[in-house]
Amino acid sequence: MTRPTIIVHGGAGAIQPEIWQEFREGSHEAAQAGQRVLAAGGSALDAAIAATRYLEDNPTFNAGYGSGLNRDGQIQCDALVMTGDRRCGAVAGVYGVRHPVDLARVVLEQTPHVLIVGPGAEELARAKGIEMCDPAELIADHRRQAWEKAVAESRDFGVDPELLPQLDPYDRPPSDTVGACALDATGHLAVASSTGGILLKLPGRAGDTPVVGSGSYCGPAGATSCTGHGEAAMRVCLAKYAYDLLEHGASAQEAADRAVDYLVSAVRGRAGLIVLDRHGNRAWATSTRRIAIGLPEYLPDDCNGYCPVLPH
Ligand code: GLY
Repeated sequence: MTRPTIIVHGGAGAIQPEIWQEFREGSHEAAQAGQRVLAAGGSALDAAIAATRYLEDNPTFNAGYGSGLNRDGQIQCDALVMTGDRRCGAVAGVYGVRHPVDLARVVLEQTPHVLIVGPGAEELARAKGIEMCDPAELIADHRRQAWEKAVAESRDFGVDPELLPQLDPYDRPPSDTVGACALDATGHLAVASSTGGILLKLPGRAGDTPVVGSGSYCGPAGATSCTGHGEAAMRVCLAKYAYDLLEHGASAQEAADRAVDYLVSAVRGRAGLIVLDRHGNRAWATSTRRIAIGLPEYLPDDCNGYCPVLPH
């Protein structure tokens, strides 16, 4: 029997001190939700989805309810799930799906496909009884305000709002994509990731999150989920890069650190990731100011987002 475990991230970026506590606590509570599933004998996939669903329901995080708004002030979500046998399901650009991660699971378990986008994915959701809602119900007040401010600032500074998401996100609000990697008592691994994408993105833009190997990856050696500037993560296939290091014998921490080093040296990217290896070792790294990490045990503040080395 393996000792089950989970690691969660709640986003990376310039998470401001006044909201940092919410990020820490929400990430920790999500990890606990996943750990409860594992303790009850649930699968790694069940646990990763339970943690991600928790974050989709929490408006602090940029996933599900509380997602960031696109150029047109709407929410369009992406999500992916993958298991250690390399089965994968993902959706991109969906409107009005309350838990996009549930729909990703439907793609994995009930279709022969890996990625379904837009209206086709929404049609699948309705056909399979996935909870739908008025897309406006997913908009949290603080996200609406952030969108209004960003649009106004772009006008003030004469910047085309469509170019804003391309600016270096180091000093911008976090992209706060969420994700979870889990290992269950039978030794199976899984990852789940979910996001509203980046503020002011063009309608129809998909980032790294629903793209297997860019925002998430899972295989027999471990699981990884990324957060941050999706375009940068996509250019280097960040999640698969970290996974391949694991498969070639790197520790979880080496894989996380080297993946971020590569991201920075290759494309000057700003993103972070969590890594869980098949033995249950957990690690993270980021090239952003902070990354919110959730573990079933409570991480002290001077550790969360900074100190990556954890005993299992
Ligand atoms: N990392 C999420 C995104 O860029 O969409």
